[in-house]
Amino acid sequence: MKSLQYTFPEGFWWGSATSATQAEGGAGEGGKGFNVWDFWYQQEPDKFHNQIGPADASSFYHNYKNDIALMKSLGHNSFRTSISWSRLIPEGVGEVNPEAVTFYRNMIDELKQNGIEPVINLYHFDLPAPLMEQGGWESRSTVKAFADYAEQCFKLFGDQVNYWFTQNEPIVPVEAGYLNVYHLPCVVDFRRAVQVAHHFVLANACAIDRYRRLNLTGKIGIILNMSPTYPRSQSPEDIEAARLADLFNTRAFLEPVTKGKYPKELVALLKEHEQLPKYERQDLDVIAANTIDVLGFNYYQPRRVKARTEPYPADAPFVPWKFYDYYAMPGRKMNKHRGWEIYEKGVYDTLLDLRDNYNNIEVYISENGMGVEGEMAFANAAGEIQDDYRIEFIQDHLQWIHRAHTEGCNVRGYHLWTFIDCWSWLNAYKNRYGLVSLDLATQTRTVKKSGHWFRETAINNGF
Ligand code: BG6
Repeated sequence: MKSLQYTFPEGFWWGSATSATQAEGGAGEGGKGFNVWDFWYQQEPDKFHNQIGPADASSFYHNYKNDIALMKSLGHNSFRTSISWSRLIPEGVGEVNPEAVTFYRNMIDELKQNGIEPVINLYHFDLPAPLMEQGGWESRSTVKAFADYAEQCFKLFGDQVNYWFTQNEPIVPVEAGYLNVYHLPCVVDFRRAVQVAHHFVLANACAIDRYRRLNLTGKIGIILNMSPTYPRSQSPEDIEAARLADLFNTRAFLEPVTKGKYPKELVALLKEHEQLPKYERQDLDVIAANTIDVLGFNYYQPRRVKARTEPYPADAPFVPWKFYDYYAMPGRKMNKHRGWEIYEKGVYDTLLDLRDNYNNIEVYISENGMGVEGEMAFANAAGEIQDDYRIEFIQDHLQWIHRAHTEGCNVRGYHLWTFIDCWSWLNAYKNRYGLVSLDLATQTRTVKKSGHWFRETAINNGF
């Protein structure tokens, strides 16, 4: 037996993550309704990298048995995917699609039969299209529709699933849809963004409430993308800018879901600038009463911030970056294939923050990974991608996760983004993240060097 330098605790989760829309394919099959991505692709295919839309995913809908066997062979003891709301309830509200029930029950069962813990998320950016027509997440009716959908999932699959997550990265649809134009409805309007953010937080709490009322024995949580925020310097201005960036980008979600309250300072700031969302008094009670059991933490890159050199124009529309500016630190280590900074210690810093300031909540790394554009350039003659850079990336992060654990952080697992190269929204297949490469035309899967390495690591529970 090889001696290991980093051994992880017993029962540590080794696996990977994906989402329904990004892996299933079968976008128009099995009674599935349209979600916003199916709709948008139909309207504007040119927006999508190489004009590839959500129907061209890695066909998990049809191929899940083989993919799960492959997962098992690569050492997975757990796997996260999501339920497609528009597959289960094609109109977003009302009738349940029986073919979807069969698919999800069979798929979850297949995971369990292969010794893989199913980790099921309910929402990964994929709103049913009919709900977008009724105002999407700006509308309170979507919160109710989400809670009803969540309850259906708990009733239909609650006997099979022990780990539920309500949403993946709720800040992404807020920013991408209402500040940055990467998701529908592609508007720039902070008031609408903040309304959507409140509705996500409320919907998370309502879904947890529905779950607990059913007296099921599993755990439920939310998945947040968190980037530790570092000031450019120790000047009071840079430190203040970093604090405010963290308030808007991390604490705005992390505090209500773990502590049941929005940060007071954020509320005061939004009030001062007349940006508070509409809410009802009981919303705050529901949020207070329904905090999470477990947190999924997606970590990709740090957030580096400096004070604004020029004050933000007083008459310009309100945006959070009015209070801070982003900072590209000279000499930072980059993933040059994706354009993101690599800062492995960031995962440790956030885990320590959770230990010290968030009651050491149970947490697992629900996404971490390295996107690479043009990855076929790294294939050997047999077509197997020699992704030593990805192995190094994972190892370097795992070392910090290991250290956090030895220092008392309640971290229970590591899921790589992703298993098989997946379709990724407007980027489609631009950035490849998988342990397994996908030839889209033939649907051939080829295990990358990192896949073999991952298998050894998972089986040895360390490296
Ligand atoms: C994560 C999302 O933040 O980033 C995934 O949860 C997404 O859905 C992934 O696919 C990678 O994004 P990109 O833009 O590099 O393809």
